[in-house]
Amino acid sequence: MRIAVLNGPNLNLLGVREPEVYGRTTLQEIEAATRERARALGVECSWTQTNFEGELVEAIQRLRGAADGAVINAAAFTHTSLAVRDALLAVRVPFVEVHLSNIFAREPERHRSLLADLAVGVVTGFGAESYRLGLEGLVGYLGSRNGR
Ligand code: DQA
Repeated sequence: MRIAVLNGPNLNLLGVREPEVYGRTTLQEIEAATRERARALGVECSWTQTNFEGELVEAIQRLRGAADGAVINAAAFTHTSLAVRDALLAVRVPFVEVHLSNIFAREPERHRSLLADLAVGVVTGFGAESYRLGLEGLVGYLGSRNGR
């Protein structure tokens, strides 16, 4: 099973960026923990971060045939990007939407996700742990779908 983890804008600044909202764990630390969990689950894991909408769109387009599922934190593009939504509609790869913060406990403009209704599920508010929970949920979903 091949899982791609995609990260959107400003997540490269985790650790120093608004630690009261996002915690002090860096994206590199989240990547290491996620890769370790993926190894324990026996799944392959790729990792991408970009600050550019078009690059995120292209990374989603590349999922077709290359990944069985994706864990996606599209960051601010979650709330704004029809292009990211359209890319997910085009490739139809099962994905879990994750956020470190609880987007529903924040400003009203973060309450709306343009991606969530396309997702297998959403994990929001568990800090760095959201990635582990998202990965585990996705692997469980894909496993049961494949009759494992
Ligand atoms: C975020 C929540 C978004 O609203 C925000 O724009 C981010 C990070 C999160 O992980 O909590 O950049 O996706």
